[in-house]
Amino acid sequence: MHVFDPEILLTEKTALDPYPVFARMRALDPVHWNEPTNSWYVPTYGDVARLLLEESLSACPGDYTGPQRDEDRPEVEEAMAFFNSWMVFSDPPHQTRLRETVAPAFPRRSAEAWAGHVRRTARELLDAVGEGETDLFGAFAAPLAVRLTCAVLGVPEQDVQLVQDWSSRLIGFLSTPTADPVRARIALQARDDLRKYLQDTVIPGLRATDDERLIPLRGIAELNPEDALALFAQLLTGGIDPVASALATTADVLLRWDPAARAEALARRELLEAVVEEALRYDAPFHFVPRSTTVPLEIGGRKVPAGWRLVLVIASANRDEAVYEGPDAFRPGRSGPRHLSFGLGRHYCLAGLLSRVILREGVLALLERLDGTEARPLATVRTPAFGVTTWPRLMIAF
Ligand code: HEM
Repeated sequence: MHVFDPEILLTEKTALDPYPVFARMRALDPVHWNEPTNSWYVPTYGDVARLLLEESLSACPGDYTGPQRDEDRPEVEEAMAFFNSWMVFSDPPHQTRLRETVAPAFPRRSAEAWAGHVRRTARELLDAVGEGETDLFGAFAAPLAVRLTCAVLGVPEQDVQLVQDWSSRLIGFLSTPTADPVRARIALQARDDLRKYLQDTVIPGLRATDDERLIPLRGIAELNPEDALALFAQLLTGGIDPVASALATTADVLLRWDPAARAEALARRELLEAVVEEALRYDAPFHFVPRSTTVPLEIGGRKVPAGWRLVLVIASANRDEAVYEGPDAFRPGRSGPRHLSFGLGRHYCLAGLLSRVILREGVLALLERLDGTEARPLATVRTPAFGVTTWPRLMIAF
């Protein structure tokens, strides 16, 4: 049976809406062996939630080198080694050590301490948007995500563009089904530039700061330069794209609501928070969580041997009809289990609370800007990308 071809995901049609493909996987082949990507795909909520908590699984994505020319192999392998040193792609004790270094920077009170900054930045961006047609992704969602992620990591405002470019180059390597040598070269250059920037600018800044919200990040300075780089690079790339994507998803939904419904979300904070939560479920910014088996495991009645790559399809789990009623409908405050967009278990997103504050305050500012206008969506453009929701353009008319 051949129900899940990665090429299908890379078509424009699927990039706009991958959910029918995921639904077919759940219905026809819920533990799917996929030769081209050398991986097993697990799309149901029950299996994904259980496997995210399965201690024996490794977060090291395993070998996805794919067919390579001999001369490309060293750079591809060097790039993979760099990404495998990130906490999200590694196991204890390395993962635990990196996580514990920065975890004190991400408790609830720190997340809320950024609320005012998010609101001011969002309002500033939206004030600059005039009447007529505008691209809300380029003018609002993307810059808000990048400016906030940078602020939270102690990157000075004037360097945001520079740092964003490095982040995009790194993430470019992770967004293809098998390793791409050109992207590997670009990612390695970005890695080297970022290493220098971290040591020359960010770490001295963290040592000197008296900002209470940034002081807990000083632990990065105590790590050796390679661990510090792995940690910083992942915080950066782990933050920018998913926050931009979730902001765009929420904005897209709200723009389709009539003005009275939007005014209600503006007036009722619990409704606004429920909208954000449902947007995270409805369109998970990251579709996949990669894992590898270290012992044989039985999954959905199939035996998966040790040493194989698993792809836990969290975006599919979030739409599983076995646990959510009418999963393809957008229903804020719906019943059902917690969505898996931030993962679960020992790699659970370090910045889940912070992301919710950014989304809540950003969307609040957007609703204020839309209030009293007849703003409507004109066109949505997504780029075909493997395993992530991307919104390069979200055209609206004020
Ligand atoms: C809507 C926004 C976000 C989404 C949907 C999201 C999603 C995720 C997911 C699914 C994981 C778990 C991956 C796994 O289990 O392998 C994760 C981990 C992580 N996220 Fe987020 N993330 C978001 C925002 C952020 C932000 C803003 C930051 C940092 C500023 C961040 C930093 C991290 C880190 C460091 C980890 C790794 C934790 C570990 O491996 O122990 N994330 N995120």
